[in-house]
Amino acid sequence: MIFDECYIKSQIRAVPDFPKAGVIFRDIAPLFHSPKATRMVADSFIQRYVEADFSHIGAMDARGFIIGSIIAYELNKPLVLFRKKGKLPGDVITEPYATEYGTAHLEIHSDSLCEGDSVLIFDDLIATGGTLLAAAQLVRRLGASLYEAAAIIDLPELGGSQKLQDAGIPTYCLTAFA
Ligand code: PRP
Ligand code: ADE
Repeated sequence: MIFDECYIKSQIRAVPDFPKAGVIFRDIAPLFHSPKATRMVADSFIQRYVEADFSHIGAMDARGFIIGSIIAYELNKPLVLFRKKGKLPGDVITEPYATEYGTAHLEIHSDSLCEGDSVLIFDDLIATGGTLLAAAQLVRRLGASLYEAAAIIDLPELGGSQKLQDAGIPTYCLTAFA
């Protein structure tokens, strides 16, 4: 299916003042409500990564789980869940982070990655980059490397994708809202 950026953007709802005054929340729920939009987004990422040399896919709690799991399934790669604090049982490593509207901690299982692994990390959206930078830190702490950070939406005015690139992390988004 050919990627139609205007159509994909039309499937993302802008909700003013959610969850805080001043934030324009970019809601991906309508996109996943549309099988056509979901397939267009998935096909576009699959085309980009089908021949790529990475070992694992990482997906961010919670909206990043949707696209991360679709791509892991399609490309037959192991999926690592990056969860908000307190959700994973057993041994975990933790990183604090801040986003556009809050602070949190991100965790992964200590045995989910090791030296030599190369991880493609997915989220629905990059705003300040806090979430994906924390994920990158967790990957590195387990001795693995980052292949790329990917998201459906970039909010470039919030500076996250630039921050990721400045940190040496290749970054790729399907569309952006200025
Ligand atoms: C949103 C979004 C990304 C993150 C992006 O998640 O899904 O994970 O914020 O912002 P950043 O680039 O500033 O880190 P949120 O924390 O709202 O959690 P959710 O996925 O559970 O809704
Ligand atoms: N996460 C951080 N900022 C966001 C925004 N503006 N819309 C949706 N998710 C977000």
